[in-house]
Amino acid sequence: MEQEENQDGSGFKSNLGFILAAAGSAVGVGNIWRFPYLAAKDGGGLFLLIYLLLVFIFGFVLLASDLALGRKTKKHAVEVFGFLNKKWNFLGKLTILIPILIITYYPIVGGWFLKYSYDFLTGNGNQTISNNFFTNFLSSPYRSIFWTLVFFMITACITFFDVESGVERFSKIIMPGLLMIILGILFYSLGLKFTDKNNITRTAWDGLKIYLLPDFSNLSLKRLLEITLDAMSQLFFSLSVSMGIMITYGAYVKKDINLSKSIRQIELFDTGAALISGAIIIPAVYVFLGKDAMSQGPSLMFISLPKIFNTMGFAGQIIAVLFFLMVAFAALTSCISITETIIANFMRIFKWSRKKASVISSIFITFGLVIVCLGYNLFYFELKLPNGNTAQLLDLVDYVSNNFLMPMISFLTCIFVGWVIKPDFVIKEMEENNGF
Ligand code: PFF
Repeated sequence: MEQEENQDGSGFKSNLGFILAAAGSAVGVGNIWRFPYLAAKDGGGLFLLIYLLLVFIFGFVLLASDLALGRKTKKHAVEVFGFLNKKWNFLGKLTILIPILIITYYPIVGGWFLKYSYDFLTGNGNQTISNNFFTNFLSSPYRSIFWTLVFFMITACITFFDVESGVERFSKIIMPGLLMIILGILFYSLGLKFTDKNNITRTAWDGLKIYLLPDFSNLSLKRLLEITLDAMSQLFFSLSVSMGIMITYGAYVKKDINLSKSIRQIELFDTGAALISGAIIIPAVYVFLGKDAMSQGPSLMFISLPKIFNTMGFAGQIIAVLFFLMVAFAALTSCISITETIIANFMRIFKWSRKKASVISSIFITFGLVIVCLGYNLFYFELKLPNGNTAQLLDLVDYVSNNFLMPMISFLTCIFVGWVIKPDFVIKEMEENNGF
């Protein structure tokens, strides 16, 4: 993104360019991997309902605030709060923590997609059907570190050589391709049914009902709060808000771009991708493994999708390769935007050159990634989280950044906009071009 900056600081040449870049950052493992496993764990329909309400109310306001703050001030996230009010400088600094935490596990999930692409490409896709395949892979330190580092090295090379615009050009083909392929898998998978060894037949339509229809029975206040917090954490993560990144994007958006229209398009794209993934993965888990398997957590898509591909025969092997590669690409564009944010912050704070910031941050990130990978084997532990999940190191970092830091930063941003600079600041910027 940096390389697109013009002299006046407004970098995106067109509305489409901006939407693609922001959607490229937003659509990633959050949509395809995180959303379905949280929705499944939280019982489907109720999570979906709360998530949709939050996206269109809260998500819109947060995206609007971030983008308006950036566009009006033309400042990066780390500087913007202090620039508008000296006492709030700390909030800019706090936003830096989020990308730093997320980068210690995001490439690990990207590496899982690469590993699955490789297995299907080399004709070993049928091994991935076994329920233990994924856990066995994680418990081998070398294999999971290898794929993580392959994924991260690709990201690091792109940011080091500053060739993000090349990747953005690719994303114009790959992102619509990903959408088509997940829609295709969705239509196919809705026809699935399976009879288990107890002679019980489960259909994808019944699974879809669990995913879409809220179940209010046995709902306690505690459960409702847990689901709301999960949905909120997913919202921040998925839309890439409350981590400074959209403030920085805002600084590159030209005045003649209609911000509210763009926000609606970004939200539609991001939420659409998440909803379709959920509609593929949750019914598939229900069909092949039953309702009890829905709270599997992070491994959910890696256990369920190979089973769908397996039912497609040879075509399934090709579709699987295309699917996992495209998801890896979507993860790559998001990972680039996280790494870019870290590099941009280092350049500003320490006055380092781009190359120096890239090299030093890459060294630290590699170190962090190896430690988090070892959380599945050498440093294995099981920790009960307040949201009911049993966490290993990766889930713990994810929880701290998404369920704790992001809500805190969002809350502080709301206070800042609502009472310090006043909402008119954002409203006027949003009305700059054709209003809401
Ligand atoms: N929004 C991305 C996703 O859903 O996968 C994740 C992400 C991207 C988080 C960029 C943070 C970020 F700065």
